[in-house]
Amino acid sequence: MKHIVPHDFSVKKEQRNRLNGHGSFLIWFTGLSGSGKSTIANAVEAQLLERGIHTYTLDGDNVRKGLNTNLSFTPEDRTENIRRIAEVSHLMIDAGLVVLAAFVSPYAKDREAIQKIVGYTNYIEVFVNTPLEECERRDVKGLYAKARAGEIKNFTGIDAPYEAPVAPHVQIDTMKVTVANAVEQILKAIESKLNI
Ligand code: ADX
Repeated sequence: MKHIVPHDFSVKKEQRNRLNGHGSFLIWFTGLSGSGKSTIANAVEAQLLERGIHTYTLDGDNVRKGLNTNLSFTPEDRTENIRRIAEVSHLMIDAGLVVLAAFVSPYAKDREAIQKIVGYTNYIEVFVNTPLEECERRDVKGLYAKARAGEIKNFTGIDAPYEAPVAPHVQIDTMKVTVANAVEQILKAIESKLNI
């Protein structure tokens, strides 16, 4: 951007990480609506809190109601939704937090863009892999029924696509593993990033 010259702040991420005693990075949860992303993210955050790790969770509920209240579910708005969340995550990583973000994020190119924004080494992708039939059967928020009835358009899995990750760092098969197992899998995957 023209005429924007960043100030060279003397307190840097590394110093904040040292103060906190752990690294900071982003754990990104992707999957269908109702797949269990927020549930698993919350369980991971609870474990991290126990260990004295500084965290923050971003999900549709806190972001789409505030920062992204002007965005819909068109492909363009979803892209912008994810871009802003990635930028906020980037700031939080700089602030020294382990950020947990739970968003459908159905487009591979948008998930690729997150990594460019936060840095490839700061990104851990968790694919919460729950089949559509199961998400629809649970229908926790009653949204699948509305989408089938045509009351909600562009609903992911119904009349909008979900591009499943091909090489996520962690894949959770929620039909087979418990939330506790999922947390274990994720903690193992982030261990080396926590240590400084
Ligand atoms: S994303 O596609 O832009 O990443 P995001 O995770 O923020 O989506 O929001 C998804 C949540 O919004 C869903 O869990 C669901 O509760 C709700 N929602 C409302 N309309 C839609 C829709 N058309 N497609 C998917 N989710 C929707």
